[in-house]
Amino acid sequence: MAPASPAPAELKELEAAASALDGEGPEAVLRWASERYGDGLTMACSFGGTSGMALVDMASKLSLPIEVFFLDTGFLFPETYALVGEVERRYGIRAVAYHPALSPEEQAAELGEALWSSAPDMCCALRKVEPNYRALAGRGAWVTGLRRDQSSDRRSVRPVEWDWKFGLAKINPLAAWTQDQVSGYIREHDVPYNALHDQGYPSIGCTHCTRAVAPGEDPRAGRWSGFSKTECGLHLTSSPQWRS
Ligand code: ADX
Repeated sequence: MAPASPAPAELKELEAAASALDGEGPEAVLRWASERYGDGLTMACSFGGTSGMALVDMASKLSLPIEVFFLDTGFLFPETYALVGEVERRYGIRAVAYHPALSPEEQAAELGEALWSSAPDMCCALRKVEPNYRALAGRGAWVTGLRRDQSSDRRSVRPVEWDWKFGLAKINPLAAWTQDQVSGYIREHDVPYNALHDQGYPSIGCTHCTRAVAPGEDPRAGRWSGFSKTECGLHLTSSPQWRS
């Protein structure tokens, strides 16, 4: 099904909100989104990177009733699953898991062993992008942990924008934050984070497609290492490019 088109008035509203909120902190963006979208707002947390952890903590401190979900690809690290449990206990929330249509065994039987190395884009499409459509069905907006400093693909991320791929508003409260700011927040507020971080994994996805990085290496160099691929596809859009 084609993604929903934005009402022109909503596009205009998002454009105005993006400008107004650009200099504000992430908490102001979260508050605006919660007030604007109510229970039509959901938060995508990978339980891999620290950004999502900071956002869960901020939403909790602001008492914003934002549902948290994660895409359980079936290939997440044990440390990632452990963090889900820790966060649920600490914040008294339940993180809703969305699963791919095929189990790892069914995928191997139907599409071949190690699809992640023969066709990584297809693997991500089946295990992350398709479940994300289900997670966002019927929603008005979703919160992500995207930041401009993460990669050249993400340089133009705005705090509030229209998501042309999934057909709803996309809220990126940390758009203007750096990794140092996120790490500072995590330390200051004693926020739980993925144990792999302290073992050389600054960016964490699936087991088969994530490796530790060496000191000085690009933080995302451990994702799909050996492939030209830099994004799983959740954040790749064929959006109209009218902005420079
Ligand atoms: S990815 O495209 O390379 O996998 P990254 O790990 O940087 O993305 O995460 C960027 C944002 O995408 C996260 O902050 C989160 O909002 C969303 N995201 C990525 N992976 C997941 C996941 N498994 N479950 C839920 N959200 C996710």
